[in-house]
Amino acid sequence: TFVVGDNCIKCKHTDCVEVCPVDCFYEGPNFLVIHPDECIDCALCEPECPVDAIFSEDELPDDQQAFLELNAELAEVWPNITEKKDAPADAEEWDGVEGKLQYLER
Ligand code: SF4
Ligand code: F3S
Repeated sequence: TFVVGDNCIKCKHTDCVEVCPVDCFYEGPNFLVIHPDECIDCALCEPECPVDAIFSEDELPDDQQAFLELNAELAEVWPNITEKKDAPADAEEWDGVEGKLQYLER
């Protein structure tokens, strides 16, 4: 599966959702997740993210392993998203800020 990682939090550009052939992105207040049972590993979303927040499970950095479980958990409760929307106004400022998990809203 592919996994949405830390840098999506508070950036949430949503370019990723438009290319997914199986519509397996789910949206929370300031973060998106991929449903691991629905992702077909096509890899189309990875290059679409302007802040490089999407990883293949195999390439997920060691310090972001918690996002594997987080994607699985939140994809069960958040609504599906298939159309791009505007990123938060301050998205640029949050690009690359480390340890954004503390800002995750559920
Ligand atoms: Fe969707 Fe493909 Fe990305 Fe999986 S890898 S979330 S199927 S676009
Ligand atoms: Fe997040 Fe990147 Fe998609 S910031 S919403 S993973 S395009």
